[in-house]
Amino acid sequence: MKKHILIVDDDEGILDSLRRALHRCGDQWSLTFASGAESAWQQLLDASYDAVVADVRMPGLGGMELLERMQQTERTRGVPVVMLTGDDDRELKGQALELGAMDLLNKPVDLRELIARLRSVLRLKDNLDGLREANDRLEKKVLRQDLDLAHSRMNVVCRLGMAAEYRDEVTGNHVVRVGCYSRAIAAQLGLSPAYQQMLLLAAPLHDIGKIGIPDSILLKDGPLSDAEWTIMQRHCEIGERIICDRSKTVAPLFVEWRADELAAGDGPDSSDPVLEMAASIALNHHEWWDGSGYPRRLAGAQIPLEARIVAVADVFDALISNRPYRPARSEEETLLIMAGTVGTHFDPQVHRAFTQSLAQIRDIRAKLADEVDVFPVIAEGVAV
Ligand SMILES: [Fe+2]
Ligand SMILES: [Fe+2]
Repeated sequence: MKKHILIVDDDEGILDSLRRALHRCGDQWSLTFASGAESAWQQLLDASYDAVVADVRMPGLGGMELLERMQQTERTRGVPVVMLTGDDDRELKGQALELGAMDLLNKPVDLRELIARLRSVLRLKDNLDGLREANDRLEKKVLRQDLDLAHSRMNVVCRLGMAAEYRDEVTGNHVVRVGCYSRAIAAQLGLSPAYQQMLLLAAPLHDIGKIGIPDSILLKDGPLSDAEWTIMQRHCEIGERIICDRSKTVAPLFVEWRADELAAGDGPDSSDPVLEMAASIALNHHEWWDGSGYPRRLAGAQIPLEARIVAVADVFDALISNRPYRPARSEEETLLIMAGTVGTHFDPQVHRAFTQSLAQIRDIRAKLADEVDVFPVIAEGVAV
């Protein structure tokens, strides 16, 4: 493919001699000539060039100003510029190189030298373009892998959360909705996007500890005895242990599995912020703002914020959904019940953020109704 070169000089005589001399390179280069920097700038905006040769001293806009404009503009920044200067323009030469000129040539121009320099800057530009393209490809690939990993992680988390729900016959999309509501509340509270994303992934595991509660208690028809209730409450600690028991690590297995890709002594990062947040939610989502909850009777700000948020999201979705033992409550009734326990059960600030995000929460509820197959929805990114 022919290289496009723009040559700028206010001296028509010089342009003419360059046109004639460079004619023999016509099979490799396509040449455009401009008699001033302003018209050259217009050319640069209208078409794409592989190199520019520009005189430094021109009336009006000079070669240095043209070079400066090119460096400040995304579209023209990567085009190499060869400046033509007088032999005695030492200071200008220094300035031109500082401004980003790729090469300098003395006037009067030695044509053989000009051709050699042009070939060299064009080669350099080819290499730089190749490097930039390879870099772009790599960035896209890393982003794709990142997204695939995030999707796979979300899939695993949601399915794991659902596994606990199957135990007490609450099937559907409750845990996924709780994750999405929690994220909406966190956004309303002004928490960082990274925190919101973590909460979306961590909240669905809030009741994972129910896996460890015997069927005779979990599925009991009728009220639980005090002893049974004590066992039931253990689902918080069991959940925390399932998610974050530090004595159970898959790191050595992982190192063995991916040994070929890991450098010697380079193990996986042992801390996982999503799992740490999920463990905190599993342990604390039944604590009450006034200190009357369980398992540790924490109060107010002692309760981790993520657990205070999930508490609101979880209760809302539980009250407004059908359960095996009772029909769904209306939204009006649900909101009234919840408003009645602000300051006792719920953190007032979190509850306010919840009511302020109700429009979004209704949308999530409709999009992730129990009948919806939630996994294609997750894959399309609709829910996230
Ligand atoms: Fe729970
Ligand atoms: Fe729940």
